[in-house]
Amino acid sequence: MCGIVGFTGRQQAAPILLDGLEKLEYRGYDSAGIAVAQEGAAGYGGAARGAQSGSRQTAGAARPEAQGERPEGSGAGSTEPSIEIVKAKGRLKVLREMTDDGRSVPGTCGIGHTRWATHGEPSVVNSHPHYAKNKRVAVVHNGIIENYQEIRDRLTKEGFSFLSETDTESVAHLLDKYYAGNPIEAISKVMFRVRGSYALGILFADRPGEIYAVRKDSPLIVGRSDQGNFIASDVPAILKYTRDVCFIPNLEIVKLTAAEIHFYNVDQEEVEETFSAINWDTEAAEKGGFAHFMLKEIYEQPKAVRDTVSPRISEGHVNLEELGMSREELAKVSRIQMVACGSAYHVCMTAKYMVEQTARVPVDVDLASEFRYRNPVMEKDTLVVVVSQSGETADSLAALREAKKLGYRVLGIVNVVGSSIAREADSVFYTWAGPEISVATTKAYSTQLAAVYLLAIGLGRAKGVIGEAAEKEMTAELLRLPEKIERILEEKERIQWFANKFSHSKDIFFIGRGLDYASSLEGSLKLKEISYIHSEAYAAGELKHGTISLIEDGILVVGVATQKSLFEKLISNMVEVKSRGAYVLGVTSYGNYSMEDVANYTIYVPKTMECFAASLTVVPLQLLAYYVALGKGLDVDKPRNLAKSVTVE
Ligand code: F6R
Repeated sequence: MCGIVGFTGRQQAAPILLDGLEKLEYRGYDSAGIAVAQEGAAGYGGAARGAQSGSRQTAGAARPEAQGERPEGSGAGSTEPSIEIVKAKGRLKVLREMTDDGRSVPGTCGIGHTRWATHGEPSVVNSHPHYAKNKRVAVVHNGIIENYQEIRDRLTKEGFSFLSETDTESVAHLLDKYYAGNPIEAISKVMFRVRGSYALGILFADRPGEIYAVRKDSPLIVGRSDQGNFIASDVPAILKYTRDVCFIPNLEIVKLTAAEIHFYNVDQEEVEETFSAINWDTEAAEKGGFAHFMLKEIYEQPKAVRDTVSPRISEGHVNLEELGMSREELAKVSRIQMVACGSAYHVCMTAKYMVEQTARVPVDVDLASEFRYRNPVMEKDTLVVVVSQSGETADSLAALREAKKLGYRVLGIVNVVGSSIAREADSVFYTWAGPEISVATTKAYSTQLAAVYLLAIGLGRAKGVIGEAAEKEMTAELLRLPEKIERILEEKERIQWFANKFSHSKDIFFIGRGLDYASSLEGSLKLKEISYIHSEAYAAGELKHGTISLIEDGILVVGVATQKSLFEKLISNMVEVKSRGAYVLGVTSYGNYSMEDVANYTIYVPKTMECFAASLTVVPLQLLAYYVALGKGLDVDKPRNLAKSVTVE
């Protein structure tokens, strides 16, 4: 999973590419690189650089000696078109320093990449752009070429030599092999040869001013403006320059010049595509005064939940028309199969409790990575629900395709408009969280919960399990959730204070029952992914089946208890761990003051209907994770080894 950006226009490309890559660092940040087309009349000027972790080469078009990497400055004065490539290991700032913020790489057409290593360690040689040996082509890639080894072996026999360990380099050589003056033809031939997923940005040295792009199962957008045209993996990368974008359809090729954009299908026929306006404000994709995107996004939850809920409720009724399913079709759903990964999977766990209670429809929950390979047995009228923020998660997308192949109707609960899951699902229910940048999801999670509540209420009504009065009561409470989340945020200092005491923990456990167990799973994941503290969540009844042996003096156990019928049981479990030395943090609703008889410290959330409690308890758990990670001085928004959008298996 990586970030791609490209620009061709009337301004210098490199500073725009670096700007865009900065917005895409959430997709990968172990190395970065840019390739800028040189018209050939004059080479690049003197560049300030010298970082040992980087390298810089100029690639000339159809030049016999072009195979060798040229030292700095040797391209100056060249009269042939060429491509200048600068790459650096580490964060983008290294590349910025090497290129004097892009000023030392002149040229108005280029592509850039920020990498999250899959094939080959993070290093300069493995970083993108990759290029063909004869340096006619430079490529940036997001995705995985599954048959790269086979291609590599074949090309090696044909005399191509490889510099890197990456799958991407095989694409650069293939393009070079097939390129005989017609880029669209060469790209289309490559598409028939490679298997896997890809979003590619491509420069041909003899076509300065032109960018080519193509995608299959990895996201890529095109943007247009008066100043020039763009490609990018995600909207925030180009939002500063344009809001006029097109989500490139799967398996289409795009040619961009400063003034024109043309789309082609794999048969090389030109096709028409429509552009749409992005109406997020730039601010929505920036930190807006918060120290981290994660904290900003935690604070955006009231708005995100409101935006997701209110357009779907009118006069106390839930409106699910956008699903394109009649009330009769909804009533016919006999089972729900929910599929997702990570936090979105925890939303599905919450949905199981919520939907089963509200609509009396059995809900099965699977990790997408398991579902896709387990050859599931499902009833005829099963509705498959895939939950995904990015809409690009490889396992979730594969699970969707598997369900469709088996003939089931698929509903996508998705945040990114126009993403693969949104396009391929039979129905889409968008969560209106806006762009989520921090790797750890917060606001998208909250909107996914809200979407699930709406679905449960709509289903419950269609099936006649709940009546109009219950629907009105539930929708009214749903509309009050944003304000209740705001109240929790007002008390963040108490959580911050507590978190600071536990920043150096080795292990932290979370326990809960029923819906609170689902919230515990999310609290634990949030904590471990950004603080690197080992953490596990348990259904509290399971403690005595093994886990309790891990409890020792001073270990923090977070007990979540909002469900009245399970409250006393959870309190007993908390007593059990406390008597074995645990330090106990209780998370419960106002009114449950007996929690303080057991817990060493208690965090209260506003009262709500029990079925919506997960939307409130998750907020202190997110803040706890955030402040623990902050206390350890970690990079909260970009935890190690993780990337925002997991577009590879
Ligand atoms: C955790 C987190 C991940 C995602 C998971 C699915 O904070 O963000 O666990 O929830 O990778 O991603 P999406 O929702 O994009 O399919």
